[in-house]
Amino acid sequence: MIDTLPINTQHTTASRLAEVDFDHLEFGKAFSDHMFAVEFHNGEWQNAQIVPYGDMAVSPANSALHYGQAIFEGMKAYRQADGGVALFRPFDNWARLNSSAERMCMPTISEELFMQGLSELIRLDEKWVPNAPGYSLYIRPFMFATDGFIGVRPSDSYRFMIFTCPVGLYFNKPLRVRFEQKYVRSAEGGAGYAKNAGNYGAAMYPTKLAQLEGYNQLIWTDASEHQYVEESGTMNAIFVIDGRVVTPALSTSILDGVTRRSVLQLALDMGLTVEERRVSSREVMEALAAGKLNEAFGVGTAATIAPIATIGYQGQDYDLPATDSKSFSSRVSAALDAIRTGQGADVHNWMVRV
Ligand code: COI
Repeated sequence: MIDTLPINTQHTTASRLAEVDFDHLEFGKAFSDHMFAVEFHNGEWQNAQIVPYGDMAVSPANSALHYGQAIFEGMKAYRQADGGVALFRPFDNWARLNSSAERMCMPTISEELFMQGLSELIRLDEKWVPNAPGYSLYIRPFMFATDGFIGVRPSDSYRFMIFTCPVGLYFNKPLRVRFEQKYVRSAEGGAGYAKNAGNYGAAMYPTKLAQLEGYNQLIWTDASEHQYVEESGTMNAIFVIDGRVVTPALSTSILDGVTRRSVLQLALDMGLTVEERRVSSREVMEALAAGKLNEAFGVGTAATIAPIATIGYQGQDYDLPATDSKSFSSRVSAALDAIRTGQGADVHNWMVRV
């Protein structure tokens, strides 16, 4: 596999930076000036470019549009206390991108090329990295099929791209969620562990139904019994039950979240007990009834830590105890923020300067 490539860079002649209101950033609406792209043809990556962000031409017959041969990652860069910029755990995202690529019959990309495109892009658009608490640069690497061919088989050609968006909070208040016990996000043996586009498209309809009922998100349950927690919306789900940090164990139907992994590590660092195992809706609701469900929250790159305030179960809503600054979710959120912004010791070497 080719390690790195020369990158042909075309600078924008009209930066949009001054048009963006950095005090009122909505997730995913403002895009930085440039994007990275590299093509896979004849079995190798070639033609690496950084060009102004904008629309692009693709074959209307490509297999990403028709059969969902498309994968993505979500990651973030943070402004550091000393003014520099650092990426949070980029190698984890690179590894997961390749695991998704294998599942979707797509080519993998070398760590060197991934990091080269990413670092050069972030350096070029360095001014787009916000500098306020809670704000960051969301990074969206993605890959899709580009053959102009509608037969159902893996494409021979692909494009890998990265664009970035300055972002603030994904959710601005604690969530109302409900257990989903009819629709499923993914089944054991399916592609739920991969970050392929179809997982997200197929989740929209059940989520929309829940939103019409006044919930923000679902808590997905397993495909065979509809009992065991899988994920919450587009995030991993974590519960604090009787002081123990409990989360569904990874499987072929659960995304191996980088934030999930980080929160569990920080919980261990804080001396807490962490349990990765099956968690049933019944266990959660019984713990809540017994006053033993201390906290529930979603964790993901976009949302970081999203506390759950209310859980809907079998047609009824149940409120969770209010959290405060001593709650695990608040403490772990503060610890993560400190590491990400260079204000706390990065003992696990998660941050990578660009
Ligand atoms: C992320 O947290 O990066 C995600 O993948 C969620 C996204 C679909 C907004």
